Amino acid sequence: MQVTYDFSGKGVLLIGATTGIGRATALAFARAGASLYTSGIGAAQGESLLTELRDLGADAVFEEADVRDGSAMAALHRNAFDRLGRVDVAFNNAGVSGKTAPVQDLEDADYDLLMDVNLKGIFNGLRHQVPHMIEHGGGAIVNTSSLFGVMGFATTAVYCASKWGVIGLTNSVALEVARKNIRVNAIAPGSVMTPLLTDMFGSAQGARDTVIPMIPMGRISDPAEIAQLVLFLSSDAASFITGQAVVIDGGGFVAGADQL
Ligand SMILES: NC(=O)c1ccc[n+]([C@@H]2O[C@H](COP(=O)([O-])OP(=O)(O)OC[C@H]3O[C@@H](n4cnc5c(N)ncnc54)[C@H](O)[C@@H]3O)[C@@H](O)[C@H]2O)c1
Repeated sequence: MQVTYDFSGKGVLLIGATTGIGRATALAFARAGASLYTSGIGAAQGESLLTELRDLGADAVFEEADVRDGSAMAALHRNAFDRLGRVDVAFNNAGVSGKTAPVQDLEDADYDLLMDVNLKGIFNGLRHQVPHMIEHGGGAIVNTSSLFGVMGFATTAVYCASKWGVIGLTNSVALEVARKNIRVNAIAPGSVMTPLLTDMFGSAQGARDTVIPMIPMGRISDPAEIAQLVLFLSSDAASFITGQAVVIDGGGFVAGADQL
């Protein structure tokens, strides 16, 4: 069974697009015909993403910007709005795993990094995307939370707190714009094989050894599977879905904490 989306004529802004879930999502939007404005950290990865997107025939731009930097984010959004004319879809996906350790072993800097990238970074997107979409009559926003945004996990307390916060932002902003033809949702992925997951657990093998026993479907997901959820939530197929955090985790959450 093949599902295809048509985003031709649509402008999509992806923040945190250079690797992993963001990159897979950018490629999926490109295959669906969207015009793309992509961002993230890492000029070399940005350039290689751009090459792949253009090889697919997409109209695409990459701009490096740090989501923690309010003025850089304001400039990024101005540039994206100028280039695309109208941003129909925004994907706020930038995130870091931070230091994996018990709470008493974390310093101020560890806390600040996680909150500034994972939570304030999303705020720094929403505050520009919402007025633009109101002005242009609508849109769809998808924010990246995590399975760790709906549960706790030992040694990732502040990461979890940042991702719970993303759902609070998502729910509240969804209500603020519910009558403006703007839908705001979050994705809450379980384990996805990306650089972030291998950083969190030390290596790809470390990630497999730790998380596969907790996943009822018995595998770690591929970023392309997460991209499909982002396209669905961004599309008219999800026209009555707003303020949700959609868990995509191979059954881990419903299996419950007893599995951990
Ligand atoms: N991989 C997983 O298992 C998993 C599970 C749940 C949620 N997530 C979330 O998915 C999102 C994407 O992560 P991923 O797993 O694809 O990892 P990744 O490391 O491949 O991607 C992270 C992206 O965020 C960008 N980024 C990081 N810091 C930034 C900053 N300061 N400013 C701008 N961009 C920045 C990177 O450039 C990159 O594009 C993150 O928010 C992460 O928390 C991942």
